[in-house]
Amino acid sequence: MGSTAQLIFEGKTVELPVVTGTEGEKALDISKLRQETGLITYDPGFANTGSCKSKITFMDGEKGILRYRGIPIEQLAEHSTFVETAYLLINGELPTRKQLNRFSMLLNDHSLVHEDMRQFFENFPRRAHPMGILSSMVNALQAFYPELPERPEEEEINVTFARIISKVRTMAAMSYKISRGHTVIYPRHDLTYAANFLNMMFHTPVRPYRIDDDLVDALNLFWILHADHEQNCSTAAVRLVGSARVNLYAAISAGICALWGPLHGGANQAVIEMLTAIQKSGGDIAPFIARARDKNDPFRLMGFGHRVYKTYDPRARIMKKTCDKVLAKLKLHDPLLDIAKRLEEVALKDSYFIEHNLYPNVDFYSGVLLRVLGIPLNMFTVMFAIGRLPGWISQWKESVDDPDWKLHRPRQVYIGPEKRDYVPIEKRR
Ligand code: ACO
Repeated sequence: MGSTAQLIFEGKTVELPVVTGTEGEKALDISKLRQETGLITYDPGFANTGSCKSKITFMDGEKGILRYRGIPIEQLAEHSTFVETAYLLINGELPTRKQLNRFSMLLNDHSLVHEDMRQFFENFPRRAHPMGILSSMVNALQAFYPELPERPEEEEINVTFARIISKVRTMAAMSYKISRGHTVIYPRHDLTYAANFLNMMFHTPVRPYRIDDDLVDALNLFWILHADHEQNCSTAAVRLVGSARVNLYAAISAGICALWGPLHGGANQAVIEMLTAIQKSGGDIAPFIARARDKNDPFRLMGFGHRVYKTYDPRARIMKKTCDKVLAKLKLHDPLLDIAKRLEEVALKDSYFIEHNLYPNVDFYSGVLLRVLGIPLNMFTVMFAIGRLPGWISQWKESVDDPDWKLHRPRQVYIGPEKRDYVPIEKRR
């Protein structure tokens, strides 16, 4: 019998089972709490709530650890590719060469987007944000491609997952080309997933794109670092929307909407906007630090702080190193990277940031890397979304296969008016 915790409420003692994870994390199982005590829990932002058991990603926010299916992020960043990492997340194990070839083949076979969907892209206003376009287009995929049946064959699952991972990348590049009024470039069978994306983004009929292996490696790394992050806001959205047994496309579309927010994936765009504002104001960091410290100012240092990490985000460490490496290799210099490093140095010594455990997160340096790749600012969060697809898909798959699965339906503590009578309109003041 596992351990329990006791809760004493109004003279009654209740035993609450304790669930223990592989890495020793303990959670109170309160699934019978209301039934036995009439109590619910109050946990704004779910900061203390484990919404599921999961075998996918482990993170320790105090020690700065991140592992996908048990493998440290540092090892995956050094040795893996995005496609291999996606396979690992979705299937639980690293693929054999044969499995990897098969998965890559599926991605290639399902890379084209239905020609009728092009008209949708062309009719969005030019100023539309690519994240809004992407979430709409992913939702629209359901109208063009089959949904997974209730009890799908393994092959149907593999094809559907490959279809989403491959087509979202094609749609992202397509939306960029159309927004610029350029010719859409189709995916090529002879290119890898990341090289194909860069080619679709930057090749033109008059100027062929020269694929640079260093940039392809950098893009693979960017996507690996974003591939999953357990129950973050967008993944929680995918699981919550998916819990209503909606189709996978709609659940992923909900995840894209959640990711768009500047407190979540939208932070990578917000960081570059902030660094540019510092640069334009003459490069003085002090006023920005002062604003971030000011309780009466809603300004936050973008790319700093994290709900779970109370130390340096391991992804930020890898991202920073990669920025330095790629810029040096390409003999480039980005003044925004200098500002970011100065800002980090000052913030990490500042009492406010120390007391609040605020360290750089993945978004702090990722924008610099995306700039090196030539990605326009308004596409930054789309790049994050492509990277997070394997995470959303694997978490969705795990949730629908979970024997403890339930429709997500939180409770609330009602604090509105007590019962009162309807007042006819002529008597209202
Ligand atoms: N700059 C200044 N102060 C901050 C920052 C920041 N970036 N982040 C948190 N704080 C302060 C808050 O003002 C608050 O202070 P108080 O307790 O004195 O009132 C305290 O730290 C706790 O803040 P919360 O918002 O309650 O902490 P939470 O865990 O919910 O925040 C979040 C996490 C939303 C990421 C926050 O740190 C933030 O807004 N960061 C900036 C946006 C950002 O970089 N987001 C990307 C996160 S990574 C990702 O989603 C991929």
